[in-house]
Amino acid sequence: VLVVRHRMKSSGRWARAVAILKELEEKCAAPVGKLRQVADAMTVEMHAGLASEGGSKLKMIISYVDNLPTGDEEGLFYALDLGGTNFRVLRVQLGGREGRVLKQEFEEVSIPPHLMVGNSHDLFDYIASELAKFVASEDEGDRPPAGRQRELGFTFSFPVRQTSISSGTLIKWTKGFSIDDTVGQDVVSALTSAIERQGLEMNVSALVNDTIGTLAGGRYYDNDVIAAVILGTGTNAAYVEHANAIPKWHGPLSKTGEMVINMEWGNFRSSHLPTTEFDTALDSESLNPGEQIFEKLISGMYLGDIVRRVLLRMAKEAALFGDTVPPKLEVSFILRTPHMSAMHHDTSPDLRVVGTTLKDILGISNTSLKTRKLVIGVCDVVAKRGARLAAAGVVGILKKMGRDSSPRDGGQVPRTVIAMDGGLFEHYTLFSTCLEVTLKELLPDDVAAAVAVVHANDGSGLGAALLAASHSLYLQPAAS
Ligand code: GLC
Repeated sequence: VLVVRHRMKSSGRWARAVAILKELEEKCAAPVGKLRQVADAMTVEMHAGLASEGGSKLKMIISYVDNLPTGDEEGLFYALDLGGTNFRVLRVQLGGREGRVLKQEFEEVSIPPHLMVGNSHDLFDYIASELAKFVASEDEGDRPPAGRQRELGFTFSFPVRQTSISSGTLIKWTKGFSIDDTVGQDVVSALTSAIERQGLEMNVSALVNDTIGTLAGGRYYDNDVIAAVILGTGTNAAYVEHANAIPKWHGPLSKTGEMVINMEWGNFRSSHLPTTEFDTALDSESLNPGEQIFEKLISGMYLGDIVRRVLLRMAKEAALFGDTVPPKLEVSFILRTPHMSAMHHDTSPDLRVVGTTLKDILGISNTSLKTRKLVIGVCDVVAKRGARLAAAGVVGILKKMGRDSSPRDGGQVPRTVIAMDGGLFEHYTLFSTCLEVTLKELLPDDVAAAVAVVHANDGSGLGAALLAASHSLYLQPAAS
C-alpha cells in the first residue's frame, strides 16, 4: 500500500510539472498571426518615434550617420566598444579601396562588476587606462605622423541622445549597468577627460551605438546591408531611413538623403507580446522595472533567468528536484544564457550536459532522464519565443522600409541584407536558426528568397573605426 501511495504521489508531482510546462507553452506561443500583429505594432511605433521626441516607447534615435562606409576609408584608427560585460579595444589599418582592412588587432577586457554600478569617473578611468595600455603596444610604423592625433570611434551601446556625430548624452542605462551620475552626461566628454587623465592624446571622432557600428561594418563589405540587429546581452536594431521621412529631424539633408536610425527596440512593448507571470516577476525585480520589455523577452541577459524562474516554480509546486527546493535555484541570474544554450543543444543519449549543468550550476544532482528532458522543454519554449519575436521585429523594419512584399509594379525584389551580431546570435544556434526560419515563415516566398541575414562578426568595432575615419579631423577642409 505504501509503495502504491508513493507512486501515485510522484506521478501526481510529475503531472503537475508537465502541466506547468504546458501552461508555459500556451502563454509563450507566438504563432504567425500573433507575430504579424507584433510586426505591425513595431511599424506603427517606428512612425510615432520618428514623428516627435517622446512620441513612442521607441526612441528612434537620430545617429547623425548620413553616409555609410564606401570602402575608401584610409589610415590607422582606434575603436573602443563598451556595451556588455566585456569591452574591446581595437586598432585597424585601413587601406582604402584596394587594400580594405590591412591589419586589425584587438583586445577584450572584462569589466569588473563593481564598476557597472559604481560611479562615472571610475568606470571611464578604467576604460581609458586599458585603452592606454593597448595604445602602448602600437608598432612604430603605426604611429601617427607628427602633429596628428590618434583618432577613435567610440561604440557605446546604450540609449544616447546624440547631439552630433561625436557627442551625445546618456538617456538611461540598460543591461545591468546603473551609474546615476552618468545619466544626462556627455559620454564623449567623460571619455575624453579620462583619456587626458591617462596622459594620452586621442580624439574621439565618432560616437556610435553597436547597432550603428554593425550596420557600418556590414555595409563596408556588402552594399545591400540596410539594417543591423544586435542579439547579445541586450537587443536592438538600426536601419537606413530617408531623412525626409523623419518629421522630428530639422537638420540639413545629406547628399544621400539618408539617415541611420538607432531604434532602441529593446524598449518596445505591446499588448500583443506573449508574456507570463515569470516575465512580470523578472521585470519587477530588475534594475529597470517597466523598461526594456522586448529586451527582457529576447536577449541573453534574461533568457537563462526566465528558465530558472520556471524551474523554481516546478521545484516548489511539483517537487521536481525532490522534497526540498534547491537553494541555488532561488539565486537570480545564477543560470546564465550560455548554460541554458549548452543544455538546449545537448544531444547525448543520457543528456549528460543537462545533468552536469544542473549539478554544477544549480547544485541539483541525480536527475532522471525524464527530468532532463523536461528542462530542455523549458529552454526550448523560452528560446523560441525570443527568436520568433526578434524575427517579428525584423519584419516590422522591412515593412517600414517597404521591403516586406513584392514590388507592386512586378519588378524584381531588391536584395536586402541584415547584419546581425552578438553572443546570443553567434553562439545559440537553435535561437538563430529559429529566427531565420521564422523570418521566412513571415515573408512571401520571393521576398524571403531576397532577404539574407549575415553574421557581421564584431562589425561594431570595425564600423566605429570606419565612421571615425569618415569623420576624421583631418578630412575637414581647412578653415579659410
Ligand atoms: C541595449 C541598449 C542598446 C544596445 C543593445 C544591444 O538595448 O540599450 O543601446 O544597442 O542593448 O547591445
